[in-house]
Amino acid sequence: MKDMLERLEERRAQARLGGGEKRIEAQHARGKLTARERIELLLDKGSFEEFDMFVEHRSTDFGMDKAKIPGDGVVTGWGTVNGRTVFVFAKDFTVFGGSLSEAHAQKIIKVQDMALKMRAPIVGLFDAGGARIQEGVAALGGYGEVFKRNVVASGVIPQISVIMGPCAGGDVYSPAMTDFIFMVRDRSYMFVTGPDVVKTVTNETVTSEELGGAKVHTTKSSVADGAYDNDVEALLQVRRLIDFLPANNMDGVPEIPSFDDPARVDDSLDTLIPDNPNKPYDMKELILKVVDEGDFFEIQEAYARNIITGFGRIEGRTVGFVANQPMVLAGVLDSDASRKAARFVRFCDAFSIPIVTFEDVPGFLPGTAQEYGGLIKHGAKLLFAYSEATVPLVTVITRKAFGGAYDVMASKHIGGDVNYAWPTAQIAVMGAKGAVEIIFRQDIGDADKIAARTKEYEDRFMSPFVAAERGYIDEVIMPHSTRRRIARALAMLRHKETERPWKKHDNIPL
Ligand code: HXC
Repeated sequence: MKDMLERLEERRAQARLGGGEKRIEAQHARGKLTARERIELLLDKGSFEEFDMFVEHRSTDFGMDKAKIPGDGVVTGWGTVNGRTVFVFAKDFTVFGGSLSEAHAQKIIKVQDMALKMRAPIVGLFDAGGARIQEGVAALGGYGEVFKRNVVASGVIPQISVIMGPCAGGDVYSPAMTDFIFMVRDRSYMFVTGPDVVKTVTNETVTSEELGGAKVHTTKSSVADGAYDNDVEALLQVRRLIDFLPANNMDGVPEIPSFDDPARVDDSLDTLIPDNPNKPYDMKELILKVVDEGDFFEIQEAYARNIITGFGRIEGRTVGFVANQPMVLAGVLDSDASRKAARFVRFCDAFSIPIVTFEDVPGFLPGTAQEYGGLIKHGAKLLFAYSEATVPLVTVITRKAFGGAYDVMASKHIGGDVNYAWPTAQIAVMGAKGAVEIIFRQDIGDADKIAARTKEYEDRFMSPFVAAERGYIDEVIMPHSTRRRIARALAMLRHKETERPWKKHDNIPL
């Protein structure tokens, strides 16, 4: 018996070494942790239960029958994050470069199936060279099965991907179909085809970092939702994100004890809006002053910064925040901002996370670049996402709510449940200057007349009251009591029920 126990320990120790000490050293020398070290950091201490530690590939071509390493390049299992069950798989770069074989795929599929069955989130840690080249088509089949499961699980359990090294070829599409992708700066990159293929096909010379580094994917392509300086920071932030998320689409948002009074007033908000309507202010300040304990997890912070998206809590319960940012492009809605916010709204709606919208938007961005780029379709994504949402929607208009953008940003007309405005709100079809230049075109040469007309227009329309008189705004509120009013609205909306006609699925303008 003792022998057997020792033999098990030996086999385990060998499996835990993955590709061996030399490769582990090389991994560390590159500033990367190993797959198991990463899992230890992601999960609560001592909570990891590993599956399939002894699985090996079954390929025999190219001498692979003599090259078998237990675990086959991916570490899988489950554990807890602050006590809540989470499934995990982590590519082990020290074993065949983390490449995906048929057996490796089967290990991932097993935890995907279990995560779905248990209705618990799944996190994938990527550091790999794509399909196992020696296996060929068997690896492709494995990818396909992983992809299919990503889609079946989408909207049922949260799926999170963290890119911590190379992620190329077949490895990119599974993360792309998960809810969130995070990257590690300077050490990770994602692309469908690498620099060598790019050179051959397009004759472009480009480095891996330039082609698919964290900066590219968080600022240009919007493929990734955030970037962190190292493995440790990335994994700690993923733990923080998981704390905000429901385990699945039926569970409802997690509720944690909050020591921040929901009725807390903040007098500084009464002077947040500058006297000059064209002067920017930082909308993030409002978010941070409203959420519990100033704790806000921003999604896509570096992309389309004219709109802010992220998670906070009110009375200990998760809320999704969408807010125009007057500091960037005056908070205008363009294609990128619309797509970014639409995806966030849909995530919140899928997982029953109430949405609070802070609005200060001068309209949609005009110009050929936007129109040629499909602003109509991208803007429609956000309009569609808000209109189809059945979660509680609370909107606060702080300043401008002009034109179509007024309708889009969770207005009453498309489903806003409680719509507030600050006294500084200006709800109108457009800014006074533009409006006067159109309706009083005959006066354009006369500066005094135009000034008088502008003043007249401002007095009549540049306030929340025209909308409030029609009931488009439920109440004009004091800025200092914004947190209290939102908390009360969300408490009232907690058991909101909305009936919609049956359909297979909608046809959002993709
Ligand atoms: C088998 C692989 C491998 C792969 C790496 N290795 N990628 N083995 N299949 N795909 C092995 C290497 O042979 C090496 O083994 C070890 O992993 C470490 O790799 P290095 O090249 O030494 O590391 P590095 O210099 O850091 O480069 C990492 C890399 C590079 C950029 C990922 O290895 C690379 O370009 N790999 C191939 C990428 C690729 O073309 N994959 C197939 C994509 S096609 P030894 O024993 O020498 O240490 C694809 C199609 C699927 O994925 C599509 C589905 C939709």
